[in-house]
Amino acid sequence: MPFLADALARVKPSPTIAVTTKAAELKAAGRDVIGLGAGEPDFDTPENIKAAGIRAIEEGKTKYTAVDGIPELKAAICAKFERENGLSYTPAQVTVGTGGKQVLYNALMATLNPGDEVIIPAPYWVSYPDMVLLAGGEPVTVTGGLETGFKITPEALEAAITPRSKWLIFNSPSNPTGAGYSRDELKALTDVLMRHPQVHVMTDDMYEHLTFGDYKFCTPAEVEPGLYGRTLTVNGVSKAYAMTGWRIGYAAGPEELIRAMRKIQSQSTSNPSSISQWAAVEALNGPQDFIEPNRALFERRRDLVVEGLNACPGITCPVPDGAFYVYPDISGCLGKTSAGGARIETDEDFATALLEEENVAVVFGAAFGLSPNFRVSYATSDAALTEACARIKRFCEGLS
Ligand SMILES: Cc1ncc(COP(=O)(O)O)c(C=O)c1O
Repeated sequence: MPFLADALARVKPSPTIAVTTKAAELKAAGRDVIGLGAGEPDFDTPENIKAAGIRAIEEGKTKYTAVDGIPELKAAICAKFERENGLSYTPAQVTVGTGGKQVLYNALMATLNPGDEVIIPAPYWVSYPDMVLLAGGEPVTVTGGLETGFKITPEALEAAITPRSKWLIFNSPSNPTGAGYSRDELKALTDVLMRHPQVHVMTDDMYEHLTFGDYKFCTPAEVEPGLYGRTLTVNGVSKAYAMTGWRIGYAAGPEELIRAMRKIQSQSTSNPSSISQWAAVEALNGPQDFIEPNRALFERRRDLVVEGLNACPGITCPVPDGAFYVYPDISGCLGKTSAGGARIETDEDFATALLEEENVAVVFGAAFGLSPNFRVSYATSDAALTEACARIKRFCEGLS
């Protein structure tokens, strides 16, 4: 009898965490590594939010709470959905977990039976397919390539739907590409879903507040009210409020699903940290003026990185609509040999040689389901980004 569960053989460890760990190890060993792998803002949680966490500790709000969130936080979440998305939810339709990651996982665990299919547009956030596999379902990927701005078409979505399709996981702006669906593009997808009542929508709106230029964020239940009853709208405080370590994510959707997710959480982790929940109440109810300068900073960095990467021979870098990632295509670099003698046949070869020869850590595209590409997280200083682009350019110029 094997000691480890069979389910484990179906999943891989998070490649983004692996790259971040490798970069940190090399740095600790004295190498001058620039890490562009981590998906988190490089600045601190705003003072008012930190103060709310400290106050919670001082006031003794350090005990177990209701499993899926204190009433004050659920009320703040309902107000947020109403204010920012025009979506009305009652507290009974809201759940809070230890990061958006746990919320997504709970939802899949609560709904998937063997053979149930989950449609995942590729390139995708690395965790979606593995979470589906862990929960016993079948990931079905639909690719949105460079030619469609990394977005899937309504025709491709229609073709992927079967009687076993239980969910579409939707993520806009996207990790890893930063691509955002316009209202019209999203409506074209929701029109398809309206014809298939067995398909539910899990929308991961984590990058809602990080949008650039003319792009306007929109979310499925708002664009197509007919989908409200079969949509789980997932969000969190990690990216918008620089709170990745606090671990608070949330979602709103049908009460039956929320109850099932609560049951799973009650038998696994119970409530997310009480202190973090009080900090999240302040994040959602407090002043929002932190968001705009933060967004503008990321927009400036996006422009810096897009320009820097497009100056590299063999690289084509589209301009993203949001989030803090770019996903350049490296078709022009394949089949070549680096200055250090590495043969570049795949995007993994490219990322490995770039780290070895130029000390720049990026995540290769195969991890996100579309090659040949790599992902850069530009949530780091301008100086580091400028230097990283110079190194990548030197690396590309050295290919022959
Ligand atoms: C698309 C997407 N969804 C969800 C998450 C998880 O966020 P958290 O668990 O910190 O709320 C991330 C984090 O990288 C993400 O990029």
